[in-house]
Amino acid sequence: MRKEAAYLMENPDEAIRLDIKTDPDAVRKQAQLCSIGAGARVLDAGCGSGKTTAVLHDMIQPGGTIVGVDFAQDRICFAQNNYGGKKLGIEFRLMDLREPLDSLGQFDFIWMRFVLEHYREGAQDIITTVARALAPGGTLCLLDLDYNCLSHYPIKPEMETVLRMLMDKMMHSYNFDPYVGRKLYTYLYDQAFRDIKVNMIPHHLIYGDLRDSDDFNWIKKIEMASVKARENFEAYPGGYEGFREDFTGFFHDPRRFTYTPLMICTGKKPKTRM
Ligand SMILES: C[S@@+](CC[C@H](N)C(=O)[O-])C[C@H]1O[C@@H](n2cnc3c(N)ncnc32)[C@H](O)[C@@H]1O
Repeated sequence: MRKEAAYLMENPDEAIRLDIKTDPDAVRKQAQLCSIGAGARVLDAGCGSGKTTAVLHDMIQPGGTIVGVDFAQDRICFAQNNYGGKKLGIEFRLMDLREPLDSLGQFDFIWMRFVLEHYREGAQDIITTVARALAPGGTLCLLDLDYNCLSHYPIKPEMETVLRMLMDKMMHSYNFDPYVGRKLYTYLYDQAFRDIKVNMIPHHLIYGDLRDSDDFNWIKKIEMASVKARENFEAYPGGYEGFREDFTGFFHDPRRFTYTPLMICTGKKPKTRM
């Protein structure tokens, strides 16, 4: 089995979904909270389409360099085609974050956004592995959601039930962690990081008119859920098609309110050996 086959969202459109949903202004604000700035050497761990890598690359000029790493061939190809090769100091590598990254050298910042949500088990091991590529005194930046995709109002009780069943399936069959945001601080604390700082900002904050990017992203999530957990829709009136129609109706209604908090947690690697 290809390693990325275990990735919950794996599908031929994933690089495009990631690219469409990534808001460069939001990435810039998040990176500012991590103090990423000019001249730094940065690793974008789990870089997806490479859009975040390109935004970070701009922020570290003059003089900074960045490597984007992902274990999915299609994401790395997309990143190379769209963001690599045009500018100095940006490159993309096909690598697995669960294996040593020694060949990449050492980094001042390692940025890992929306990766640990895929490791309900194994997140701490990934932190240990990537931290080895951090220079002493370098900063690990972990960005992930808490209560992921679960906060909507007003939704029908039967929709709420399906959403919870789906999340349960994603947690237990696909190692997905909708509550990883609240764990990031403790993960860094337990691994002896210093000067740990946590910021919490809204990631999804959806009310009023729906943006096309949110529409595309959330309908893709529902479609993926139908592939991974079709049986969870059986008891819903009209089955999967009924749920999709109701969710689309809910989501397009400017009266609906949806939110998800983003935790941004940074910590410095001690200058002495961890
Ligand atoms: C939800 S996407 C986030 C992409 C990007 N970091 C962002 O903020 O938009 C997660 C990415 O992490 C990658 N990924 C997951 N596990 C990985 C691993 N063990 N090694 C390398 N990449 C991994 C996936 O292939 C996917 O592209």
